[in-house]
Amino acid sequence: MLPPKTVVISGGSKGLGAAMISAFLNKGYRVATFSRQSNGFITQQQLSNTNFFYWESVDANDLSKIKSFVNNVNSKFGHIDILINNIARLAEGLLVFSSDNEIISLLNTNILAPIILTRECSKSMLKRNTGVILNVSSINAIKGHKGVSLYSATKAALDGMTRSLAREFGPANIRINSLVPGFFDSDMVSYLSENRRKQILKRTPIGRLSKIEEISKVALFICSEEAAFITGQNIVVDGGISC
Ligand SMILES: NC(=O)c1ccc[n+]([C@@H]2O[C@H](COP(=O)([O-])OP(=O)(O)OC[C@H]3O[C@@H](n4cnc5c(N)ncnc54)[C@H](OP(=O)(O)O)[C@@H]3O)[C@@H](O)[C@H]2O)c1
Repeated sequence: MLPPKTVVISGGSKGLGAAMISAFLNKGYRVATFSRQSNGFITQQQLSNTNFFYWESVDANDLSKIKSFVNNVNSKFGHIDILINNIARLAEGLLVFSSDNEIISLLNTNILAPIILTRECSKSMLKRNTGVILNVSSINAIKGHKGVSLYSATKAALDGMTRSLAREFGPANIRINSLVPGFFDSDMVSYLSENRRKQILKRTPIGRLSKIEEISKVALFICSEEAAFITGQNIVVDGGISC
């Protein structure tokens, strides 16, 4: 029997990251993740999936910690089969009022950290001539929305990286795609006013926010052998809001 595959999911303590961890563990994958803080979800996985789960406290803005996290995962599980770049921070506000520090900090978390994590994890994949990478993007990368220009820029940058790396990594049998969710309930969107929520529902043909599992199930599919011929794509899961 083949050994279980190892998936690295950044930002797994809550929201979509936690949902993807549950989905992959349920299918028998080994999962490694990091976030700045632990919580009840992380402790529960550490207790019930001892040999299949690894967590470290890492701030994505500390690039040396990202590198040592990847080394530790390789030491614990042998190699990395799948990477999901999930961490991002949403910054709302008009560009004209953004400070240099706010801009740099958002670019560091949302684009520099995923680039470094991708480079580090791809070393393990290139050695074995196999791998899958999934970048969690956003509909803000494909549609304009006032007040989120920086966030949109980082997500569009991820999508651009996805397409170019699909060409760079394809010959090494490494697939890479962007998953483009619409709105789902998580801490990230808890700031939405009732009015804004109503507007979103009105503009969504399916008429509701996504359930988080509707996104994590697609992530599982894209990373599976069943999606072996899908690479370099934006896979939009948004109830039609962008159509
Ligand atoms: N929510 C939506 O409606 C929506 C829509 C489209 C796309 N997305 C995308 O989906 C992904 C997940 O979003 P979500 O809503 O599930 O987010 P979330 O609930 O805010 O969770 C973010 C996760 O990332 C970790 N994290 C954040 N900053 C970090 C840092 N600097 N270093 C290490 N870990 C960090 C958090 O843990 P700690 O805070 O403990 O570090 C947490 O585990 C993101 O890429 C987001 O852009 C979300």
